[in-house]
Amino acid sequence: MAKIIVTGGTGYIGSHTATELINSGYEVIIVDNLSNSNINVLDGIKKITGIKPVFFKTNLADASETKGFFNHVADADALIHFAAYKAVGESVKHPLKYYRNNLNSLLNVLENMFEKGIKNLIFSSSCTVYGQAENLPVTELSPILKADSPYGNTKQISEEIIRDSIKASTQIKAISLRYFNPIGAHESAEIGELPTGEPNNLVPYITQTAAGIREQLKIFGNDYNTPDGTAIRDYIHVTDLAKAHTAALQRLLNLENKSNYEIFNIGTGEGNSVAEVVRTFEKVTGIKLNTKVVGRRPGDIEKIWADVSLAEKELKWKAEKSLGEALLSAWIREKKYRGI
Ligand code: UD1
Repeated sequence: MAKIIVTGGTGYIGSHTATELINSGYEVIIVDNLSNSNINVLDGIKKITGIKPVFFKTNLADASETKGFFNHVADADALIHFAAYKAVGESVKHPLKYYRNNLNSLLNVLENMFEKGIKNLIFSSSCTVYGQAENLPVTELSPILKADSPYGNTKQISEEIIRDSIKASTQIKAISLRYFNPIGAHESAEIGELPTGEPNNLVPYITQTAAGIREQLKIFGNDYNTPDGTAIRDYIHVTDLAKAHTAALQRLLNLENKSNYEIFNIGTGEGNSVAEVVRTFEKVTGIKLNTKVVGRRPGDIEKIWADVSLAEKELKWKAEKSLGEALLSAWIREKKYRGI
């Protein structure tokens, strides 16, 4: 049974991926500093899989703490690196906090992987690296544009740090997955996005509005150059996204990778507008949302969706769940969490 370290494994995508890995027969070790997640997530994972993963509370941005952690897991076969801050707006206000956390943790992780001989890395990157692409859908060869936010820049720099480290040594192989917009929750509703404070992202805002916690969903702009005027994204069910990690991991462990550093888009290949998301949510739940169109959100791009043919061909992976299924799963999770 291969042993996989999941950094940020109590977070939103990390917990769904840990669950998927355990269900696929891997031994999972979670390391997280719980800065934006809850220890109870481990119980959720246990309810789904029957196994409570081994957990270390460690701040990976701290070099000596990280070294201490790796002394316990030197025999791991691979590491999936999710641990990072992810709020775009906050990163604009506190850039150094983002650079320090997201980059130091990657440097510490890489240095310790080299030292302990852990050979396989999967990195959680983002479609944000493409900015507003000229040609859609974006492929992995689409130009990387100057990042709009420190958060986005940490993803670009991280990809470069990994590329350079791998160029300098053949000891490690890596895959970066560029996620589009992950939404939804595990079908059991035992795990999901952690709702702390006012959500920034669209789907948690929608489910909290439906639950009566927020009065109104603001639609940021209806004057974009899109069919209905609202912005378009590629929304992917988080369990589909989790499965992309198992596929990438198998590729590395089975030595099927074509180069030591590979990059894949992970989305559905379809774009949906904010208005379509709202309409679909209303249709699958039967709940009418209180919405209001307001001005554009600074820093938002107009439209993006993924060309996923490379992931389909090489990882033999494809998103399977629909937007409606993803939105319904997010709502079921919200209800369970709130006891509604
Ligand atoms: C962005 C980043 C993504 C990052 C994520 C983390 C890009 C292209 N994407 O996603 O890489 O991982 O943040 O937070 O930079 N919206 C509303 N009302 C709301 C909330 C959102 O209308 O209350 C709209 C937004 O304007 C946008 C869409 O919904 O058009 C999706 O927004 P959101 O869920 O915040 O994700 P992104 O900004 O696309």
